[in-house]
Amino acid sequence: MKPFSQACENNKDAILSVITPLLKDKNNLLEVGSGTGQHAVYFSERLPHIHWQTSDMKENHEGINLWIDDASFQQGSKNIERPIEIDVLNYQWLKQSYDAIYSANTAHIMSWRAVEAFFQGVGETLNDGGLFILYGPFNYDGKFTSDSNERFEQWLKEFDIERGIRDYEAVNHLAEENGMKLLQDYGMPANNRILVWKKYC
Ligand SMILES: C[S@@+](CC[C@H](N)C(=O)[O-])C[C@H]1O[C@@H](n2cnc3c(N)ncnc32)[C@H](O)[C@@H]1O
Repeated sequence: MKPFSQACENNKDAILSVITPLLKDKNNLLEVGSGTGQHAVYFSERLPHIHWQTSDMKENHEGINLWIDDASFQQGSKNIERPIEIDVLNYQWLKQSYDAIYSANTAHIMSWRAVEAFFQGVGETLNDGGLFILYGPFNYDGKFTSDSNERFEQWLKEFDIERGIRDYEAVNHLAEENGMKLLQDYGMPANNRILVWKKYC
């Protein structure tokens, strides 16, 4: 049975409305941590000019493939690629480069060491002028942006102490260290953000 994320259902249209103009002149995109594959299928069908490469740890590939199977069957979807295995801590950053890298709800799941490796890899993998689009909750000035995010943090830590909502300032510093500059910070429903960095030449 296909895995299902209610959060993806809830946030997909708000995310699509932000990424559509950002990706209008882009051709290929790597998604890191595709999860169920719902976002990849939904967005790639609505952005037919984008060649959408899914990726995740091996254990999520079966579910992503089920979503792609259904999408291909129903829509003749041709611009979505079956998942490649990426663990940001382990993989040799890819030989291929991308115009954009998209990732949702990953930075608070990864350990901080993994987040550092993630940003380094993104900096190495993006084409000049390419965009890194990161969706999720972030703290500002060391503060939660809502009570629900504070409760979410406690829940994350109970599960794994290395998880946690990241500070905007810390991830922005990582981006700058890896050759990217903040282009935009979008407020999203449910106390989430979309941070967009551009790799400079
Ligand atoms: C909360 S899920 C989000 C999935 C999906 N992007 C979404 O928005 O529903 C976190 C994702 O991060 C991935 N992830 C966690 N650690 C990772 C790592 N070290 N390298 C790559 N992906 C990782 C998980 O496999 C999972 O797919």
